[in-house]
Amino acid sequence: MRIAVLGSINIDLVAEVERLPRPGETVVGQGLARYPGGKGANQAIAAARLGAEVALYGRVGDDAFGEEVLAAAREAGVDIRAVERLPQTPTGAALIVVGSRGENMIAYVPGANGRVDGEYVRRVLPAIREADALLVQLEIPLAAVAALVRELPAPTPIVVLNPAPAQDLAAIPLDRVDYLTPNREEFVALTGWPPEGAEEVARAAQSLLARGVRHLVVTVGSDGAYLVEGEGATRFPAPPVPVVDTTGAGDAFSAALAVKLAAGSGPYEALGFANAVASLAVTKKGAAPSLPTLAEVQAFLARQAPGRPSHHPLTTP
Ligand code: RIB
Repeated sequence: MRIAVLGSINIDLVAEVERLPRPGETVVGQGLARYPGGKGANQAIAAARLGAEVALYGRVGDDAFGEEVLAAAREAGVDIRAVERLPQTPTGAALIVVGSRGENMIAYVPGANGRVDGEYVRRVLPAIREADALLVQLEIPLAAVAALVRELPAPTPIVVLNPAPAQDLAAIPLDRVDYLTPNREEFVALTGWPPEGAEEVARAAQSLLARGVRHLVVTVGSDGAYLVEGEGATRFPAPPVPVVDTTGAGDAFSAALAVKLAAGSGPYEALGFANAVASLAVTKKGAAPSLPTLAEVQAFLARQAPGRPSHHPLTTP
């Protein structure tokens, strides 16, 4: 199965701390690390490690950081030939602080990712149209995402839009989005409601479904994920794991979902698999380095079958 990923390609500079600092406060870190990252690159690497044929689309600077991230993607088996290197432009970067419970905060500087535009999208569109699934996120300009989604034939590629970081989606033709995958904070930003309980999620999600999104998948960390299609939500519990670093867990989840859907699985099977992949990703440090291989996921699932999904109909309007 072929997966196309359009998105950000970053270098991540990660400080490990006991607890995240408050505004204006300095905390002393225990370590500093540099990892390949960016939601686009992470999702491409995740899908490739899960056995998909993956092509990555985006832009980096003509610098050492860009080369470092692309080398990691290449090593994972991702086709990076369509990624453009822009002269005199820095590669995107993320400054990440990770606390002792695996929680994080991120400051993201787009650099070359901010230069992904309609002209680039037009150039790569013919190849992306041939994919079985497209993964796209919002660390590149919204106008480029909208330009791409607008031009895609239906029903393939299956479109998985990971709305991270959260933005107003008014410009995106949501009726061409098959799966929208916000996390807890992004769901609040999109609907105004916290995802507390299946029925509340279903009710809050109706505004997005009314705009044409076919399936809404809300990831809620160690609580797993909700799937909302039509009226009612289904909760998929996540397997319990020791949490080391949650950075990249959302990327692992969206990529795993796309891989399974592209292979012909239905949403129930795909969500169970995606929960397992994301759970494994939080047990290791870093974004791209924590993404599991298919063999690791299969071994994990053999030890720990996915929990049973529970459906909750929307009973009151
Ligand atoms: O989703 C995680 C990614 O988001 C990190 O790799 C970092 O680059 C950030 O932008």
